[in-house]
Amino acid sequence: MKIFLDTADVAEIRRAADANLIDGITTNPSLMAQAAGKGDPRDIFLEICKTVDGPVSAEVVAIEKDTMVTEGKRLAKIHDNIVVKVPLTEDGLRACRALRADGIRVNVTLCFSVTQAHLAAKAGATFISPFVGRVDDISGDGMELIGQIRQVYDNYGFETEILAASIRHPQHVVQSLLLGADCATMPAKVLYQLLKHPLTDSGLSAFLADWKKLGKEL
Ligand code: G3P
Repeated sequence: MKIFLDTADVAEIRRAADANLIDGITTNPSLMAQAAGKGDPRDIFLEICKTVDGPVSAEVVAIEKDTMVTEGKRLAKIHDNIVVKVPLTEDGLRACRALRADGIRVNVTLCFSVTQAHLAAKAGATFISPFVGRVDDISGDGMELIGQIRQVYDNYGFETEILAASIRHPQHVVQSLLLGADCATMPAKVLYQLLKHPLTDSGLSAFLADWKKLGKEL
């Protein structure tokens, strides 16, 4: 499963990319607004693309199809790594088709149902982003949604990649792995939680303490 970092913070991205922990980046307008401040978001997208060798999702902010397509084409020109992100609306799906016809990869975002995911796949989406944490927030079952989309895409041979998004904790990642999601995107906090285990830490401390007693070098 591909692991994406869900951030526009270049320092966070650099750390994870240097450790080869990530396969790409997702951003959204909220994350970009946080990272850009007075800077130009396009400069940040370019910096991110130079830092990570993989897909970098950059979201349009228009809500009408033609303007989405114009924004999407402008974003795609920044770098080959850019994947244009559009919302799962009627106009978003129309923009998805138009951008795909132009050879631009598209991530259809804000997906909360199997029927939405089905329509996005029919519109040629490269990635579908079901927001599992936000489904859980309203007492739904985000991971059940991932499993159902997997089954539908497999039933009909859709190649759209399932990108589990709005991941809040490691169990979301475990379930994504078990259910066959193609990718999961998460904040840095969750990424490093995947790496940590208290028994690794205590085991290492014990090994090093024993070695120190020996008083020799390797
Ligand atoms: O990738 C989508 C993600 O940014 C949304 O996460 O935690 O705001 O629901 P969250």
